Amino acid sequence: MQLLETFHTKRLKANRLCVEDYTDLCLMHSNSMVMETLGGTRTNDLTWQFLQTNLDHWNCYGFGLWMFRDKADGRFVGRGGFRKTQVDGKDEVELAYALMPKFWGKGLATEIGEEILTLGFEKLGLADVVCYTLTTNQASQKVMEKLGFRYEGDFIKANLIHVLFRVTDPRCLCSIS
Ligand SMILES: CC(C)(COP(=O)(O)OP(=O)(O)OC[C@H]1O[C@@H](n2cnc3c(N)ncnc32)[C@H](O)[C@@H]1OP(=O)(O)O)[C@@H](O)C(=O)NCCC(=O)NCCS
Repeated sequence: MQLLETFHTKRLKANRLCVEDYTDLCLMHSNSMVMETLGGTRTNDLTWQFLQTNLDHWNCYGFGLWMFRDKADGRFVGRGGFRKTQVDGKDEVELAYALMPKFWGKGLATEIGEEILTLGFEKLGLADVVCYTLTTNQASQKVMEKLGFRYEGDFIKANLIHVLFRVTDPRCLCSIS
């Protein structure tokens, strides 16, 4: 489905993750500021594994991560999308996002998240989506709140306490009330 391969936000162009994105991913994964809240920096070998895992995810489920670039000049801004995950043994779909530091504080994570969620609810038929982060990651929690996520509780992942947020397709809420 062409729509899922590529789409635009107001300021960015999104492309389905592909093998040519390896260099930009290495750039991101070697950046200690970005990776501080994502388990620490990764070697290029680990990034190659990450890429393969996420390409497989697309092939398996028909959705996954997109790479986002500045519409005006093509600069790499960040990555974001959906991933299958487990929270306390339950299958969930997670919204994930990470931006290069020079693009922080401009509302871009929120812009990306809004577009991805709309796609998830309206095109992928997801009923709800979770998002989680470290208790200390205030910026990410703020993004979740701006996207309409609600705090659901804490859980342990990779031996660390994470806050779990969830958002439900607003169209489901309308049909209940
Ligand atoms: C988290 C991240 C995606 C935010 O991206 P961003 O484009 O700067 O986010 P936005 O500009 O859309 O929104 C950030 C909000 O957090 C707020 N914020 C930033 N730092 C904050 C802090 N330390 N405490 C409280 N709020 C903070 C901003 O003011 C903004 O809110 P506002 O619009 O009400 O002013 C980015 O910092 C990042 O990539 N971090 C590293 C990877 C990561 O943590 N990913 C998320 C894992 S779940």
